[in-house]
Amino acid sequence: MKKINENKEQKDKQNKQEKNNQNINNSTKAKSNVLIGLQYGDEGKARVLDKLAKQSHVIARFNGGANAGHSLHVGDKKIVLHQIPSGIFYPNSILYIGCGCVVNPLKIKHEIKDINNNDICIKNRLKISSKATLVQPHHTVLDSLHGKTIGTTKNGIGHAYSDQAIRSKGNQLKNLRFGDYCADPNKAKEIALTNLNEAIAENKLTDVNAKEMVEEFHKEMLNLIQYHCNDPLYLEKLAEQNKNIFFEGAQSVMLDVITGTVPFVTSSRTLSAAAYTGGDLSMRHHNKTIGVAKAIMSRVGNGPFVSEFGGERSEAYCAKDGGNAHKSKFEKANHNVDNILKSKDQFEMGIGLRMLGGEYGATTKRPRRIGMLDLVMLRQNCKLNSVDELYINKFDCLEHFNKTSLPGIPLVVAYELDGKEIDFMPANVEESKRAKPVITHLPHITTDISQIRDPKKLPKEVNKLISFIEEFTGSKMYGIGVGPERDQFIQLREHEN
Ligand code: IMP
Repeated sequence: MKKINENKEQKDKQNKQEKNNQNINNSTKAKSNVLIGLQYGDEGKARVLDKLAKQSHVIARFNGGANAGHSLHVGDKKIVLHQIPSGIFYPNSILYIGCGCVVNPLKIKHEIKDINNNDICIKNRLKISSKATLVQPHHTVLDSLHGKTIGTTKNGIGHAYSDQAIRSKGNQLKNLRFGDYCADPNKAKEIALTNLNEAIAENKLTDVNAKEMVEEFHKEMLNLIQYHCNDPLYLEKLAEQNKNIFFEGAQSVMLDVITGTVPFVTSSRTLSAAAYTGGDLSMRHHNKTIGVAKAIMSRVGNGPFVSEFGGERSEAYCAKDGGNAHKSKFEKANHNVDNILKSKDQFEMGIGLRMLGGEYGATTKRPRRIGMLDLVMLRQNCKLNSVDELYINKFDCLEHFNKTSLPGIPLVVAYELDGKEIDFMPANVEESKRAKPVITHLPHITTDISQIRDPKKLPKEVNKLISFIEEFTGSKMYGIGVGPERDQFIQLREHEN
């Protein structure tokens, strides 16, 4: 009898151990992918996410705020999102805003309204981390006053992150988080009012109605409380139930607050590693990093851009009157695109490429600065962000070089700095200004590739270019965008989740 009991005990113990092991194994089965932009933003990240995130239960943001922006087109529906992750069209997905983001209730209200007007329900799907910092009214006021040098989006992003770091000034709390507001809305409202009054006094502002602004902010915060996620293990628990998570990076790696072109950057961490610190998930679930670039690069705002056509002249032209002097309408009315494209002056050729590529702000129509594909930058960013799958949008636009006076498609393969060739990007503005791109040309693309969907049908010059990029960057290319429509996309290799 004793022997039987002993055997049973041993068997129970073994079963328990096996179950434990199974639990531990299960907890690592979920996969989380991180998608980031590899240049200066506006690379078309949302359209790649749209292709890859279908199997994900959660689409999550981990950085930035209303400074991001992308239009989503599905059928005849168009929705512009700034803070809400772009998984709204997957009907059951959770839309998570992580602790690394800054949330502006006055802006997010328009997104929610727009989504509801399109009959999409996000009631039980949108979750905002307790620890996400709020963009308070004084942050946007201060950004409007001081953001001009950098050319910020005036969304108060830098001031919100700066108060996050400052935490408090004496006894006055400067940083308010989403969960702080939910815990005691009236107290939080008073804090926001004191902060705004202080900014008004310090800047001698006469045209700001503090009470009215804070009242509106408070009203919208009360509406948002329903989306509060106060469980720090919320995503971790979903991952343990084998639910896949897809992180959507905002801005891009060249705008990272520490490793980007400082000070002409945004205020958050934009690298792939930031997905876990800003996304409330442990990194043991990490599966793949997906990097997105654009074949003809663009940049908005000021700051270094070594491969820019027309250099500083182009930067000043695009910045004139806050970007309003040379909007798309102006350029259309003043330039014949075929003529200007042939110009030997790279500044003028850049205008032609911008016109053909439609490189203007989605809502503002302000001109984006244009430059050739910088492979030194791409290689550096692929390596530092451990990019597993590289996607390059606007590949079809490379055909425009065939109409220019250039001998082929220009690619930056090194920099010349103070007479020496270097194979990395200068780390500061002064050296970036002195650096000259070392350029190689690959054969022109002479046919329209925008209607091709099968990679086997791509012309040989495109294949040659793809191989060159892969060899140079050490990253495998998985897809190229060949036009603005959702289906104008060629998957070169199968994405493996
Ligand atoms: P902020 O993020 O509004 O503080 O702006 C800082 C810089 O980042 C400016 O040059 C902006 O134009 C740029 N920036 C911010 N968000 C984006 C984006 O989503 N795409 C491209 N540039 C951005």
